[in-house]
Amino acid sequence: MEIKNKTIFITGGGSGIGLATAEKFISRGANAVIFTKTISPSAKLPTEKSLIIKGDVTSRSQVKKAMTKGADKFGSLDILINNAGVAKRENFMDTKEKDWDFVINVNMKGVFICIQEFIKTLMNTDKKRINANNSAPHDPHKSAMIINIASGAGIYGVEEIAVYSATKAAVINITQSLNEELKSLKIKWAAVCPGATNTKMFNNLFPGQKAYYTPEQIADVIYKTASEEIKPDDRMIVDVFKHIK
Ligand SMILES: NC(=O)c1ccc[n+]([C@@H]2O[C@H](COP(=O)([O-])OP(=O)(O)OC[C@H]3O[C@@H](n4cnc5c(N)ncnc54)[C@H](OP(=O)(O)O)[C@@H]3O)[C@@H](O)[C@H]2O)c1
Repeated sequence: MEIKNKTIFITGGGSGIGLATAEKFISRGANAVIFTKTISPSAKLPTEKSLIIKGDVTSRSQVKKAMTKGADKFGSLDILINNAGVAKRENFMDTKEKDWDFVINVNMKGVFICIQEFIKTLMNTDKKRINANNSAPHDPHKSAMIINIASGAGIYGVEEIAVYSATKAAVINITQSLNEELKSLKIKWAAVCPGATNTKMFNNLFPGQKAYYTPEQIADVIYKTASEEIKPDDRMIVDVFKHIK
């Protein structure tokens, strides 16, 4: 798929993998709507190609408003990248219900809300186009894609991060379910599964340990998934381990 002039809506694009991904897409001529809680002070994004909106993926009203604003600024949204994520590392038996709820809420409910609101935004954009042109668009969502950032921990659960692993398995699963259920919409789907990457999340979880990947390497895999140089396997998974030498 041609990425130039397409618009991505990326959650958690304020740092780490999300920020590197937004920068990668912009460098290839895309527009980026970055929806995140906080934005790294080092982020340098051209204002004509980017829109930074602060918000929380667990708030439907904030997500909806941000998507409408993004579609208004750039004409449409084309690619949703569900990247915002949180993790807690603790022994399973010591895990508190509030930590369980927090991780499930951001990693699963956030994805659920963003997918629903993205598809509604696509439909609203179509409606506006039909009203303006008085004609039905041809295959309106042929160039739409939803990339969910899961994790290697979602393919095979990792000790001490059981809750996080479970949410990432759920992210893979929802990608598979919706690829079947929403086939008629012609949206393309993928669950990208990074491994240990040098970001705030990894360094907070595993202090002193060395990550395998840089955020830029993961951003490259996400970009190639969107441009379809990399195709998901028959479980809808793009396992970065298989794509980074
Ligand atoms: N790093 C790894 O080793 C690794 C491996 C596999 C998968 N992943 C996945 O890759 C994705 C990106 O992770 P990362 O390592 O780049 O982490 P990161 O550096 O912590 O970045 C996550 C971003 O998401 C934002 N965010 C958190 N909760 C949010 C919410 N409720 N609403 C909106 N934005 C929110 C964060 O904002 P704040 O800074 O304000 O919290 C931050 O900007 C996550 O889904 C993660 O699970 C990471």
